[in-house]
Amino acid sequence: MCGIIGYIGKKEIVPLLLTGLKRMEYRGYDSAGLSILDSSSELKSIKKKGRVNDLELASMDLNVKGIIGIAHTRWATHGYPNDINAHPHFDTKMNISLVHNGIIENYSIIKQKLIQEGYSFRSDTDTEVLAVLIERFYDKVKDLEYAVRLALNEVNGTFGIALISKYEPNKIIAARRGSPLILGIGDNEYLVASDASAIIEHTKNVIYLNDDEMAILSPDGFITKTIANKKVKSEIHQLEFDLEQIEKGGFEHFMLKEIFEQTQTIRDAMRGRLLVDEGNVKLGGLRSVRDRIRNARRIIITACGTSYNSALVGEYLIEQLAHIPVEVEYASEFRYRSPILFEDDFVIFISQSGETADTYAAIQEAKQRGATCLGIVNVVGSSIARATDAGIYIHAGPEIGVASTKAFTSQLTVLSLLALYLGRMRNLSTIDGIKIAKELEALPDKVQMILNGASEIERIANEYYQSRNFLYLGRGYNFPIALEGALKLKEISYIHAEGYPAAEMKHGPIALIDKNMPVVVVAPKDEIYEKVVSNIEEVKAREGRVIAITNYGNTDLEKLVDHCIYIPDTLPLLTPILTVIPLQLLAYYTARLLGRDIDKPRNLAKSVTVE
Ligand code: F6R
Repeated sequence: MCGIIGYIGKKEIVPLLLTGLKRMEYRGYDSAGLSILDSSSELKSIKKKGRVNDLELASMDLNVKGIIGIAHTRWATHGYPNDINAHPHFDTKMNISLVHNGIIENYSIIKQKLIQEGYSFRSDTDTEVLAVLIERFYDKVKDLEYAVRLALNEVNGTFGIALISKYEPNKIIAARRGSPLILGIGDNEYLVASDASAIIEHTKNVIYLNDDEMAILSPDGFITKTIANKKVKSEIHQLEFDLEQIEKGGFEHFMLKEIFEQTQTIRDAMRGRLLVDEGNVKLGGLRSVRDRIRNARRIIITACGTSYNSALVGEYLIEQLAHIPVEVEYASEFRYRSPILFEDDFVIFISQSGETADTYAAIQEAKQRGATCLGIVNVVGSSIARATDAGIYIHAGPEIGVASTKAFTSQLTVLSLLALYLGRMRNLSTIDGIKIAKELEALPDKVQMILNGASEIERIANEYYQSRNFLYLGRGYNFPIALEGALKLKEISYIHAEGYPAAEMKHGPIALIDKNMPVVVVAPKDEIYEKVVSNIEEVKAREGRVIAITNYGNTDLEKLVDHCIYIPDTLPLLTPILTVIPLQLLAYYTARLLGRDIDKPRNLAKSVTVE
């Protein structure tokens, strides 16, 4: 949450910072701001409620030339989104400018102390407290870096910060604890950002700062060290994506582009891993834990939001193919309930961004209790990817739309590979392995067939987009898909939607059903299909309107329901990878008809780096 960028170099700085913010706008978009040190080392700043475009308009008159600047796009935690609470924040003398991602948890105690000492505040934010605390220490030690280190020692919580000051106008100081920060090492230019997407245009050489590390960037180079002032040896990594991957490429929205990319991203998740002839899977990232995982007593999968829904499918997959007991838990619950873990437990952390604060904190919890931690992550080099003992990247490429789509199907693909891998290490036969591997290999073309029918789904959306509520039902492997369909609809269209196991409907939600209630039923032809049909009958008996997702050729259902959306046949355990795609499209077209801001839905942000 929140995007930070800082730049030192020769390029024109205001447009550069604005472009960087636009690329990270999915991290937060309720206000934005920037500060530049101009040629006479004066601080020039501008902050605006609203989108980066509003900041851009407001900065038209900011005719500053400078080589050093920082900027921020905000997702409010403390303080209403307005011009004053927007970042950067300043010390009382307006000589230090600070941008921050995270939460200073003890800000109110520090603020009280500072007020008693005579310092005053302009905003309601926790960040301003840190800026003033740095000022307080600077007044004493007259050394900016030292003052920053002293101030950071006093704060609890999480931060990724970048600051500049007229006191020492030739540097940016950056530091992190629990919020991502990446350094970009260019040709006589240096950047710091919370996201590689803001850096890629300038350089592919990056350093991922670790927790409790800081960096000091100057026109001549950079140094990294710990906040406790110990040397660190930072490794330079290469970014693995290109600029065009973070552009819309002719699509109206990133979300639509990402839905249509799934044919390719599912293929990418399997590339080099699927051994069809052997009915097996190669997972290089698990090599170091291979023998131990074969004997895992239990697997716990923890994640948030859409990644949690994929974890639920993972539970069904691993238990069916590998017969290892699996538990799934929200990371936000796992981390605070003192979970009982054993040394032969494996805990899997699923995260698209690799930065979700609750998931990241759950890793520390699991590690303390001696469990082995595995990551299933999209963003290479992200905090979760680096904090886990081993893992599998999903290789979905940058996902910009706030509503996760392609990352979800890639997570499902990787979980299917993992289940097959574990199954084959235990009791799953070669014949069964080959059957599953062949079906996995065929999935991308089947996804394409569903995408080819997108206009039919748009037509259905046209009929229902004014509904106030939706119910999503599914059973077995497709119960989590009902949850995911409902989540997609509510987050981008703001229509209330609930997902339920279809048979649970009669224990409560059935009371909601009348002729105004669209009910989306995920009903592929599997062993519980007949049971799902009975649930559909129950809805129809109460005049509910049913949109069913079922297999091509299953025309029987047409007589019972109002609309059928068809998917190609596959193994029941792989159906979630197909059934979710019509639900993503239904949510997308519904939100578009309602004129919603699809890629940046209200109140949300892509990377949830606060608790
Ligand atoms: C929903 C969505 C969120 C994320 C959740 C976890 O479309 O995107 O629910 O799935 O915030 O994020 P990651 O996977 O980055 O840990």
